[in-house]
Amino acid sequence: MTTTHVPNSPDSSRDPKALYGGKGSRRITVRDIAAAKARGEKWPMLTAYDAMTASVFDEAGIPVLLVGDSMGNCHLGYESTVPVTMDEIAVLSAAVVRGTKRAMIVADLPFGSYQEGPVQALRSATRLIKETGAGAVKLEGGERSAEQIKLLVEAGIPVMAHIGLTPQSVNAFGGYTVQGRGEEAAQQLLRDAKAVQDAGAFSVVLELVPAELAAEVTRTLHIPTVGIGAGSQCDAQVLVWTDMAGMTSGRVPRFVKQYAQLRDVLGDAARAFAEDVVDGAYPAEEHAFH
Ligand code: KIV
Repeated sequence: MTTTHVPNSPDSSRDPKALYGGKGSRRITVRDIAAAKARGEKWPMLTAYDAMTASVFDEAGIPVLLVGDSMGNCHLGYESTVPVTMDEIAVLSAAVVRGTKRAMIVADLPFGSYQEGPVQALRSATRLIKETGAGAVKLEGGERSAEQIKLLVEAGIPVMAHIGLTPQSVNAFGGYTVQGRGEEAAQQLLRDAKAVQDAGAFSVVLELVPAELAAEVTRTLHIPTVGIGAGSQCDAQVLVWTDMAGMTSGRVPRFVKQYAQLRDVLGDAARAFAEDVVDGAYPAEEHAFH
């Protein structure tokens, strides 16, 4: 008798490692993501920028990890995502792929790597897929990026789109403000969402969008929506990991829920280590070789 594995069947739904495609035997694919939407299942996504952190999230059962250009602010010490380069995305994406066995890894196309047109986008995306082993790329923009998405998808590269607040355009927006407010802006957001779906994107990030509008987009599209500051009705939710785990210093956006205070934990550990060294308590006899 043969048994068919049903991903995330009711008996496996409590084990996060059993979500969307088996117990670690293969990577999550776009088919698993499409099947989750068809079944009405919500899923989590986190950013990751290095192999070790990525391995923690992979073992925790996070099905999709984004090597986001948020690495600019959260990992590389830039003021925004704008300066992030292809080389930086490539090096960190390859590290995240090496640190994981199961998650789908999405590599972000940085500012300036696809805006010139579809051919530039294809060149950049091909490089990331070939050099890093990532399973998909993400790019920002709705109608304005539809031609790029179409060519990448035709070339066999899965694309996650990103609309609403698109941080690479922060200078044009004049800040990180909620998008899609008012009838005209809401209609534009709906047009953007349909444009990326029609172009072949397998999912779309909705960033800083009113919850009611995000819910309408989610109902309208057959591809999953991934919300960040877009209310509870999206098919998936993404957070920048340093925000989610309390590593970020200072104020975090209102939509962030912090599930730990890693910055305090790490600071305490560093202070305890320093104290032990100064006091001569470390290294102790058990740490020494003779
Ligand atoms: O770069 C990033 O981390 C992102 C997410 C916030 C969606 O684009």
